[in-house]
Amino acid sequence: MRKLACLLAMVLLPGLAGAADVTLGLMDAEVDLGDKASLQRGAKYFVNYCWGCHSLKYLRYQRLSRDLDIPDELVEKYLIWDGSKISAPMTNAMRAKQAKDWFGTAAPDLTLVTRRHDGGLNLSRGADWVYTFLNSFYRDDESPTGVNNLLLPNAAMPHVLWRLQGTAEPIYKPADPHTPGSSQREVVGIRLVEGVGALSEAEYHRMTRDIVNFLVYASEPFKSTRKALGVPVLFFLIVFLAIIYLLKREYWKDVH
Ligand code: HEC
Repeated sequence: MRKLACLLAMVLLPGLAGAADVTLGLMDAEVDLGDKASLQRGAKYFVNYCWGCHSLKYLRYQRLSRDLDIPDELVEKYLIWDGSKISAPMTNAMRAKQAKDWFGTAAPDLTLVTRRHDGGLNLSRGADWVYTFLNSFYRDDESPTGVNNLLLPNAAMPHVLWRLQGTAEPIYKPADPHTPGSSQREVVGIRLVEGVGALSEAEYHRMTRDIVNFLVYASEPFKSTRKALGVPVLFFLIVFLAIIYLLKREYWKDVH
């Protein structure tokens, strides 16, 4: 019994730890893998704005084309720039070394990024993390990229969507008059000035949600297929059970 309790605690605690973080201010990405229009938009945004630096090496063009109902010709015309075959994985042209030279750190592959930040069991947390990350850039004149990120302090990634969102201003922690020299540089929040980006706040939220939705799809392309298969498989098992039961009755009739 005690062993069981230990085991349960081991399984549940990381999940709870992850859940506690949510109250620290992760935004809800409201992932919906059934929303194909959102996934298609997300794929388009990803290719336009992220793919220059980040690869999706565990996803193949063909899989994307099939799952998101994008005709092969369109994928070949708009997504494949380097002459790769449609059956190839979505690696990108930028070499990891180049990225390292430019940003001091390589831009990680993003196929599994929503899983990397899921905090154990809490599967939607990884998506919320990436969504919040894309909404947490703020102006920082001391950073080489001109911005910083609340969620990933000193991130090497520039705010690639700044034209669309605008750049938020930092809100500093008020200095404590009782502690001389207390830091005024501690950022406790960010504020967006309306109208500095090309998109409204709601439009930017929708755009980043689409990107995150797409990344969740990319981390497990089979998820929707698996879900869609679940009901027919259960139905089959129930019918099959009924047949087996009838068969068993038939066999045992002669034995009794
Ligand atoms: C100009 C190159 C560049 C572009 C374009 C870019 N990124 Fe990044 N990104 C980086 C670099 C470099 C890092 C590593 C940051 C670090 O660890 O300090 C990074 C890190 C990240 C991370 C954090 C990964 C982790 O687990 O730590 C996420 C999420 C991310 N990028 C998402 C995106 C998305 C979504 C887009 C498109 C909207 C995008 N990036 C466009 C360079 C880029």
